[in-house]
Amino acid sequence: EMPPEERAFQERIDRGEKIEPKEWMPEGYRKTLIRQIGQHAHSEIVGQLPEGNWITRAPTLERKAILLAKVQDEAGHGLYLYCAAETLGVSRDELMELLHAGKMKYSSIFNYPTLTWADMGAVGWLVDGAAIMNQVPLQRTSYGPYSRAMIRICKEESFHQRQGYDIMTKMAGGTPAQKHMAQDALNRFWFPALMMFGPSDKDSVHSAQSMAWRIKMNTNDELRQKFVDQTVPQAERLGLTVPDEGLRWNEDKGGYDFSEPDWSEFFEVIAGNGPCNRERLGARVKAWEDGAWFRDGLKAHADKAVRARMA
Ligand code: ACO
Repeated sequence: EMPPEERAFQERIDRGEKIEPKEWMPEGYRKTLIRQIGQHAHSEIVGQLPEGNWITRAPTLERKAILLAKVQDEAGHGLYLYCAAETLGVSRDELMELLHAGKMKYSSIFNYPTLTWADMGAVGWLVDGAAIMNQVPLQRTSYGPYSRAMIRICKEESFHQRQGYDIMTKMAGGTPAQKHMAQDALNRFWFPALMMFGPSDKDSVHSAQSMAWRIKMNTNDELRQKFVDQTVPQAERLGLTVPDEGLRWNEDKGGYDFSEPDWSEFFEVIAGNGPCNRERLGARVKAWEDGAWFRDGLKAHADKAVRARMA
């Protein structure tokens, strides 16, 4: 039997009302949001690294300007999301500490290396494509600040997805060597992109409660299916082959049947043992430590301004 406060809260959620920062909420709702929004923010920030790797090596000035803008957008997304998390009573510093101590996650996808320029295409097309598939429904999530952050983020993500598809179009329509690079990037990113949606529904520990609270709007498998259905025709248009022998159109369900990703690989990656986990976390810790003098300077300046005002 639910306590009356909690029942009233659930009724608000069921009516589709937004929950705002100062309003009463169950502790579990607050904790779940901090976990999800915090992980999401960390993903945006760590997600700058695989693409940042190619800024200095972009093939043209135009591609470099586009990639630079895109990677900067990701920093902006991280900042909106940390702000949204802060409205729940956790500070950005606390979230950073948890990330750096390996106590908070970020998306599994960013633990894979970006080996060639075609990977910039595959990341924009598949990784940002998967991100949008997950984030468009989150525009209707029940927590006000999170849902509003998602609206702006989705607009920018769709530009990112298109710039990735544009790179793939160029590469897949280029020389045989370029087309080979495009296919190789698709081969390496396909299954990791499918893993972004999280474990299969039967192993998703948080889905049921998060969906009841409308923190999540869909199950992991629902969104993965939508992503496959949307992306396979795009691969065909590129003249590339999705690296899954089990892929088949299923007329009855009006969608594709496809093979499950290697879930043991997924659980290894989220446990910290993926191909680039140490490198990614190491880069973030180093950036944090290298920025300490600057944060100290800002703090000293702010303290001085307060003292001046009080004098
Ligand atoms: N990478 C890392 N960890 C994951 C992933 C993933 N792709 N998918 C699931 N997990 C973790 C969950 O965080 C959870 O671990 P925890 O209890 O330690 O937090 C565990 O696996 C079990 O999974 P679920 O019960 O399914 O977790 P949840 O309900 O949180 O669903 C999902 C996962 C779908 C990623 C959800 O958190 C979500 O929608 N988040 C917002 C979107 C997001 O974070 N996107 C970031 C990538 S996109 C980008 O940044 C460009």
